[in-house]
Amino acid sequence: DNGYKLGGKSFTVVAINTAATAGEWIKSKLGTFSNLDYKYSPHDLVTEVDKGAETLIRNLISTHFPQHSFLGEEGVEPGPDASAQALADLSDSEYLWIVDPIDGTTNYVHGFPFFVVSIALAYKGEVIVGVIYDPSRDELFVAEKGKGAYVKGKRMSVSAENKLIDSLVGSGFPADRNYALPINLTGIQALAPKVRNIRVAGSAALHLAYVAAGRLSGFWEIGLNSWDMAAGSLLIQEAGGKVTDTEGKPYSLGVRNVMATNGNIHQELQEELGLCGGTGF
Ligand code: IPD
Ligand code: CA
Ligand code: CA
Ligand code: CA
Repeated sequence: DNGYKLGGKSFTVVAINTAATAGEWIKSKLGTFSNLDYKYSPHDLVTEVDKGAETLIRNLISTHFPQHSFLGEEGVEPGPDASAQALADLSDSEYLWIVDPIDGTTNYVHGFPFFVVSIALAYKGEVIVGVIYDPSRDELFVAEKGKGAYVKGKRMSVSAENKLIDSLVGSGFPADRNYALPINLTGIQALAPKVRNIRVAGSAALHLAYVAAGRLSGFWEIGLNSWDMAAGSLLIQEAGGKVTDTEGKPYSLGVRNVMATNGNIHQELQEELGLCGGTGF
């Protein structure tokens, strides 16, 4: 058992194989794509590789599980609330795959090697499998509900810092420049002097995987969509961390403003975000 099989459950195996296949394909296309489009704003990029990867992922999954539902970023109407309506329409699904074919498209477009494939499977609204694949470093992050979280087959656990001042935290500059970005900037400004440092590397999913792996003490971002967080949320919970919204409510698929930590710094981070008005809408 290489640790990826986690008991050989087929959902997880399909998620892993699909993420690895898509990730390798995305990497092979790096620098070769010809179509750069904007979705709802000049900060919201999409290439034919995003679309091609989503099609590939959707086809692979439906070969194995034709009866399952599928939610992918490139399959829904663009907009700052893109996943909300789609999630509502899919709320009856038993098994729902939630996919971000490339998380970190802006990085991908610039050749900044910080982009991933994120694949989650939810059963009746609860994430039961989460896989994030980083093709630049060939790192596969896997979690299955109740079975722990693994990177490259090795068990992961969150970091041990228990004060913000000792913590390295991640955040983002959301594509929604009108609403989410100003709130997130408020938080970044307030937190910067209170933490060891902040990293904003342009892939929410990879930051979440790094929280699970103990490489970041925590992460928060305002205005995310379900496909940015679904897989990462399970990785962190299975690695012993905590995932809520920025007001401390438990994580669910509808969460937009996420706060994910090693657990120890959760309350302090929440308090600081609350004090500066950085908890969002
Ligand atoms: C984006 C990335 C980015 C975050 C944005 C997301 P995409 O996803 O995760 O880090 O700041 O809010 O939309 O568009 O590259 O899949
Ligand atoms: Ca996008
Ligand atoms: Ca994303
Ligand atoms: Ca994406």
